[in-house]
Formats: sequence, structure tokens, C-alpha cells
Amino acid sequence: MGVFLLLLSLLLATVVVAVFLPRALRVLGGLVGYYLRRSSRTRRELLLARVATEQRTHDADRKQSAKDEDGWKQIESSTGASAVNGAKAAQDWNGIAGFFHPFCNAGGGGERVLWAAIRATQKRWPDAVCVVYTGDHDVDKAAILKRVKDRFNIHLHPPTVHFLYLTTRHYVLSSTWPRFTLLGQSLGSLILAYDAFSLLVPDIFIDTMGYAFAVALSTLFFPSVPTAAYVHYPTISTDMLQSLEEGGQGINAGTGEGYRGMLKKQYWHLFAKLYSKVGSTIDVVMTNSSWTQGHIKSLWAPYRTRRNHITTHDIDVVFPPVAVEELESEVEVSESSEADRGPYLLYIAQFRPEKNHQLILEAFASFVQSHPSLPAYPTEAPKLVLIGSVRDSDDATRVYKLRLLAHELKIKESVEFVCDATWPQMLAWMRKASVGVNGMWNEHFGIGVVEYQAAGLISVVNDSGGPKLDIVVDVDGKPTGFHASTAEQYAEGFRKALTLPREETLAMRRRARKSAGRFTDGGFADKWILHMERLVRLQVARAAK
Ligand SMILES: *[C@@H]1O[C@H](CO)[C@@H](O)[C@H](O)[C@H]1NC(C)=O
Ligand SMILES: *[C@@H]1O[C@H](CO)[C@@H](O)[C@H](O)[C@H]1NC(C)=O
Repeated sequence: MGVFLLLLSLLLATVVVAVFLPRALRVLGGLVGYYLRRSSRTRRELLLARVATEQRTHDADRKQSAKDEDGWKQIESSTGASAVNGAKAAQDWNGIAGFFHPFCNAGGGGERVLWAAIRATQKRWPDAVCVVYTGDHDVDKAAILKRVKDRFNIHLHPPTVHFLYLTTRHYVLSSTWPRFTLLGQSLGSLILAYDAFSLLVPDIFIDTMGYAFAVALSTLFFPSVPTAAYVHYPTISTDMLQSLEEGGQGINAGTGEGYRGMLKKQYWHLFAKLYSKVGSTIDVVMTNSSWTQGHIKSLWAPYRTRRNHITTHDIDVVFPPVAVEELESEVEVSESSEADRGPYLLYIAQFRPEKNHQLILEAFASFVQSHPSLPAYPTEAPKLVLIGSVRDSDDATRVYKLRLLAHELKIKESVEFVCDATWPQMLAWMRKASVGVNGMWNEHFGIGVVEYQAAGLISVVNDSGGPKLDIVVDVDGKPTGFHASTAEQYAEGFRKALTLPREETLAMRRRARKSAGRFTDGGFADKWILHMERLVRLQVARAAK
């Protein structure tokens, strides 16, 4: 009897929790949010006052020097003259956009995206304030802005960008969580986000480092604050889950067996579920490539649909900016520059195993030994140029082995190795060459391939990953290069690329360059603004309620 009662009350308790917990959590979250807003109000006012002062000083300095040092110009709004309610407010939005980027001074590709995003936001909404939540205590604003300028050539407008310093960053380091790292780091990001909100509650919250849990916490505390995430890499991917299965690939291959393996599998699946739920709460989701988009979609989309989040622009790819403009100005693509180009194939890649130089050497050997006739290049013989950095003795050994292979394949005379080339050397080769090659399987993106395109090279790339999905795609309905898988297909690709009719060669070079235009700073800014405008409209609408 007692046991029965116990079971019954347990069941009852479960039902009560299941029904009321979400609501209770929401009420509790709302209370915490209210408290955080109140307690950080003074800091918010101080910040806005400081922005105003700095802006006045800046304006005064400017009047004196009367020189526009960074080509400050406003980006036109894409909303145009749409007469929606609050359109005016959205036009001259002056709220605070909070960027959650605890490692903002790292100087990598992820940071380039952060700064380019802030720059675009500043240009579009000159009165808005961008704050960056960071854990880099050792650097002040002036030092960070200087580094952004030196490293990325991005000039931020100092008065409207500010930094708030987090003290709990160690909670998101993997070293803090030797076990259950995924879950631990996610919990850590909750602590870090709480830290951030206690400093300042923004009007729009944007995560640019992949801390989806932090974004969900923002929604729990402040349901009216629109949120966004720019995802470089999924925290957990369907590849990872599959790798645990028998015959899986990668560092976790086959670890899903046995008793411990079972537990690990359960844990990962549970985490994936949690991650998916969390991801479904985010208003605007952007990914840095189609590869990431595919993974994020397969995890988040089902939950997002359930939450009626589906809109016309759900989970969009916003490519990070690549330094395309410099190549465009340094390398000519025209009728006359065709005379400078020879039947040269360029492969720019570090000498690492996954770059598969071997495959390219074999393909080139097969191409050369078929004695192709190349009417466009009557005087020169085809040449393969391998450019790459040699970082250590392993790389050096690989280069040695590749040289041996070239010797064995009897193409030694027509293969040139250029180790640790300088930028001017690379530019010289990009002017002289005709074709750009990439041999890696499933490369997530391929900045090198974008550079080929910007330089007007015709690409012959692996039929997989970013080079296939994102980069070497049709422009104006026509190809910008060729895809290949086997040595024979690569050889065929080289032949096709070097035997195009004269006009088509130039036309394809021009299309390639146009294709690279999608990865410029300007292209990034346009797309960023499009998404930012959605956030601003949401913010204005919710604030009016
Ligand atoms: C996206 O981010 C990941 C992780 O940083 C990186 O490996 C990948 O190259 C990035 N993709 C692009 C298009 O830059
Ligand atoms: C891509 O390249 C690899 C070798 O690097 C090759 O094994 C693979 O089959 C290629 N193609 C595709 C479609 O993956």
C-alpha cells in the first residue's frame, strides 16, 4: 500500500513538474531578468553618457583635421521607403547591440567576422552602440582597436564601440572541464553569459563565437531582446554522432562500443538534443559556410519548425570576408594580360597529408603523358607549381617524398616546388598561371580557392566540401571551373581548362572573379545588414508593445 502511494505521488510529482516547470522557469527567468536590468541600469546610463562625450570629442577633432581618414560613408538601408509602423525608428536605430565574443583579441578568422560585423553595423546605424563582452583583461580599448586596424585593416569608429570585461572566462576553457567537456563548457558559457548580463543588458544580443546556450539564457531572462548567432562550427555535429557507430571515422571512431561506449553515446545524443532545443530559441541564425549550415539545419531546423520560428530566411549562410579586393587590384584579368599567362597549374596549400599533393602529382603526370596539344600556348610546356609553407621537419620530409614521387613519375622537370613563398612571389605566380588546383577531400571552405578566383585562375577542385558547394559554382549560369575526384578526372579537368577557346578562357576568368566577389568585405557587410535589420525591426516592434 505504502509503495503504491509512493509511486502514485511520484507520478503526480512528475506530471506537475512536466507541466509547470517550463512556466515556472520562465517566471523565474523573467524575475532574474528584471533584477539584472535594474541593477545594471546605472552602468547603462554611464555608458551612453560616455558614448556622447567621446562622440563630441571625436567630432571636434575631425573638424580640425577635416579629413576623412577611413572613407566613412553610410550604407543605404535595404528597407527603403517601406511605410511600416516603426520604420522610422528602425531607420535611425540608436539602441545597444551586445556582441558576445569572450576571446575578441585572438586575431583569427572568427575575430575578422566580429570586427567586420561591427564596422557594418556602425556604418548603417551611426547612432547605435556596439558593446563587446570580452575576457581579455590585459588589453584596453585603444590597444584592441589598434590591433584590429593593423591585423585586419578594419577601421572602427571609436566612440560607438565599447568593451565590457568578463571575469569568469575560465569556465569556458576545455581545461576547466576534463570530463564531460561539451556539457561543462556549455554550463560555463551560462555562467559567462550571466556575468555579461550583470554588466549590461543589451537591446539586441548577438553571439559570434558559438555559445548557443548563452543566447538561450538571454531569451529566458529577457524575452523581448532579439537574439542572433553567427555559427562558425557546430558544437556537436551529426558527423560526431555517427563516428561513434561501428565503422565510423575520425578520432572517436568506434569508441561507441562496450559499456562505457554506450554511456558516451547516450551522453552525446542527449547533448545533441539539448543543443538543438537551445538553438531553436534563437531569432536569427547565420552560418559561415554551407557545410556548417547543413549541420546546423539538421540539428536545429526540426525544433525551430515546431516553435513556429520558420521564416523565409531561416538559417542563412553569410560568408566571412576574404581579402579579395587586394588580389583584384594586384592581378590583371584582361585581353592583354592573357599574353602573360602560361599553361601553368598552381596548387597553393600547406604541405599536409590531407591536401593530397600526391593525387595532384599523379593527375599531372597522366595529363602530361597524354601529350595534350595546347594551341593557346604554342611555345610553353605545362608546369605544375606547388606553393606551400614548410613549418617543421615533418613538412620538410613530405616535400622530400613528393619530390621523389615527381621523379618516379618522370615529371621532375615540369614540377616546381616553392616553399615558404612571400606574398609578392605568390602574386607573381597568380599573374603567370592559368589554372588553380585543390586536391583536398571535404575541405570546409577553401580560402585559397577564393584567391584563385579573385586572381582570375580557372579552378580544378575536388568534387566535395566548400570548393564544390560554395566556391567553384556557376556564375550567370556558366561554370567557373571544374570538379574532379580521381587522378584521371583531374587530368581531364586540366586538359579542359587549358584547351578552352580563347574568348571562353577570358570569359571564365571574369566569371571566376565575379564569383570571388561574394566573399569580399562589401558582400559580407550587405548580408550582415540585411539580418541586422530584421533584428532591429524585431526590437522596435517588441519595445512598442
Ligand atoms: C567556418 O569556421 C570554421 C571554424 O573556425 C573554419 O574551419 C571554416 O574554415 C570557416 N569557414 C569559412 C567559410 O571561413
Ligand atoms: C576528393 O578528393 C579525395 C582525395 O583527396 C578523393 O578520395 C575523393 O574521392 C574526392 N572526391 C569526392 C567526391 O569526395
